[in-house]
Amino acid sequence: MARKKIALVGSGNIGGTLAHLIGLKELGDVVLFDIAEGVPQGKALDILESTPVEGVDVRYRGANDYAEIKGADVVIVTAGVPRKPGMSRDDLVGINLKVMKAVGEGIKANCPDAFVICITNPLDVMVWALQHFSGVPANRIVGMAGVLDSARFRTFLAEEFNVSVEDVTAFVLGGHGDTMVPLVRYSTVAGIPLPDLVKMGWTTQEKLDAIVQRTRDGGAEIVNLLKTGSAFYAPAASAVAMAESYLKDKKRVMPVATLVKGGTYGQPDDVFVGVPVVLGEGGVERIVEISLDPAEQAAFNKSADAVRGLVKVASGLMG
Ligand code: APR
Repeated sequence: MARKKIALVGSGNIGGTLAHLIGLKELGDVVLFDIAEGVPQGKALDILESTPVEGVDVRYRGANDYAEIKGADVVIVTAGVPRKPGMSRDDLVGINLKVMKAVGEGIKANCPDAFVICITNPLDVMVWALQHFSGVPANRIVGMAGVLDSARFRTFLAEEFNVSVEDVTAFVLGGHGDTMVPLVRYSTVAGIPLPDLVKMGWTTQEKLDAIVQRTRDGGAEIVNLLKTGSAFYAPAASAVAMAESYLKDKKRVMPVATLVKGGTYGQPDDVFVGVPVVLGEGGVERIVEISLDPAEQAAFNKSADAVRGLVKVASGLMG
């Protein structure tokens, strides 16, 4: 069986980490693409030289020409500009929209059948733009945000309860940003919902509220520490888990930014926003639609409306 081909469009901090993790898991051969000359080639060679030590057989190439991503099975997009301290993800919309146009056209010309994962921010609107420019069907293009947001939530919860991160599950809905909706009643420790853990005296409502807020601000916390860029290890790990579920047809249930059609989750019209889906060989095989209580629905609507507002801004910039 031929090896899978995975194209990484953007070879910066996340792109390099993706390349490394994909190799360690032997998910396929990797093409690192970037507009910066030398950077993808240098990272490709450096990681390739780690493969004998790791005992993995993976080919790596660096490229500045879209022709090199031809026939890719999976494309993970991180091309663009990350935010600096004081910036919101939304401040990046103008500059990264132009990047999505170039990337989308590159995908359309070279690998229109690929499964595409977008990481570039502001996430939900960039997925919308990338689908517009690439023409990839909606079931084969997703945004990585919910897996990262729920990983942050799980990390903080595991610390609070002093239990293994493996036994903490978390459920996050909505856009990637300040309006994300961590669903406390669907988040658990070994199946015990968080509200029950409050009743059991494992934590207090105040502490839980603080953890929810820290999750919402998780990206900014890292930006403020790094000062020169944004998070890259956890975002890369999250996208690799999504790619693996697609490539191995694992059918994992994961929160991703996907096209939520009008009517689903109470939405008046179509919008790309984070909801739980089944990810398998068919890409987004099913949206998992849970029933929300009025407060949760209001929070989700607010989040979807924030994405719609930004899509309007992006549409205006596209003329
Ligand atoms: N085509 C291809 N690559 C591009 C383009 C383009 N038009 N424009 C910029 N790039 C490349 C840069 O040369 C750089 O190598 O994208 C890479 C981005 O890497 P970093 O600056 O290190 O950013 P990173 O931390 O990887 O984040 C990338 O993901 O999480 C989001 O907000 C983050 O939007 C940002 C993206």
